[in-house]
Amino acid sequence: MPLANDPRTRIRDAAAALEPRLIALRRDIHAHPELAFEETRTAGIVAAELARLGIPHRTGVGRTGVLGVIEGGRPGPTLAIRADMDALPIQEETGLPFASTVPGKMHACGHDIHTVTLLGAAAVLKEMAPQLAGRVVLVFQPAEEVLEGAAAMIADGAAEGVDYALGFHNHPDMPAGRFGYVRGASLAASDRFDLVLRGRSGHAAHPYASVDPIVAAAHLVAQVQTVVSREMKAIHPAVVTIGMLQGGTTYNIIPERVHLKGTVRTLHAEARDKAEAAIRRLVEGICAGMRVAAELAYQRKVPPLVNDDRVLEPAIAAVREQFGEVMEEGEPSMGAEDFSAFAERVPSFQLRVGSGAPGREDRLHNAAYQPDERCIGLGVQALSRIALDMLR
Ligand code: NI
Repeated sequence: MPLANDPRTRIRDAAAALEPRLIALRRDIHAHPELAFEETRTAGIVAAELARLGIPHRTGVGRTGVLGVIEGGRPGPTLAIRADMDALPIQEETGLPFASTVPGKMHACGHDIHTVTLLGAAAVLKEMAPQLAGRVVLVFQPAEEVLEGAAAMIADGAAEGVDYALGFHNHPDMPAGRFGYVRGASLAASDRFDLVLRGRSGHAAHPYASVDPIVAAAHLVAQVQTVVSREMKAIHPAVVTIGMLQGGTTYNIIPERVHLKGTVRTLHAEARDKAEAAIRRLVEGICAGMRVAAELAYQRKVPPLVNDDRVLEPAIAAVREQFGEVMEEGEPSMGAEDFSAFAERVPSFQLRVGSGAPGREDRLHNAAYQPDERCIGLGVQALSRIALDMLR
């Protein structure tokens, strides 16, 4: 077979040719970060690039998202590939020449990398479209960091007619050139609650004449930990964290109310239901026992992200075809990501793309995060090869 028809070489050469432009676009987006549902400039860049590539697309999907479609040369399934575009409310401290120009906002989770990586894959796949059996839907999603953008795009039809979905995230724990996967549940369901405890205020010297919400809050903070230790199956991971506890003003006053905020992370649907039921029961029981009135607002944000072998297996095989043995099996994380809203509807897989730079120990959501930009071209190759092999 002549070299030009070898998909490995074709994809590698195409990604290499695109790389300088993609890095320039990434640096531009990096310098102009936009928070959740404000990604109008970024979406404008995406739309302009898709127009330049001759890829039909819609803007304003899920408020500030962009949805593109590449039609293959023959009929077949539809594969959605999703990138998120939003930045974080963090003051950048990298000192890079293309650092954020917006005070208090930064691409510290690498969604700038994701946006241009999908643009690169779009260019490669558009070029190879006659060889594809099926269709690629390009999902440029807003507002991942607030876990609302995926649901907003799905509400606007982004998952309609989609048979499989592929997500990806840069991963600084692995060097650029390595890729990772997790079988089954890989990221947690993220739910949250607001709890207001109302007692009756009074003089601290006469507690019998008051109802003390602070003592009730202290009991609750300790008791909700038993949800994890006493109510979950030991093989079902769960985290309950009270991240905020506010009440009272000074030494000698029993306050009227205490406000708590908490987050609940679980990897299994059964554990998710159980945790919510247990927290509701404990709040009700403890508050009744201590004469405190409780207002509990429990909000389910996103389901766990469960990788499906129907996408995971062909994706692993495709990455191996493209690069050799570069895939590592990783551990699940109790972090959350709203790509799970797609994975809840269609068989999906989220690929981890190594982005760690030599000599650095970077973390996501950190003011000094500097991913290795080589992960862009490598990510383009991986996404393109997975799509090509799944739509043969
Ligand atoms: Ni992220």
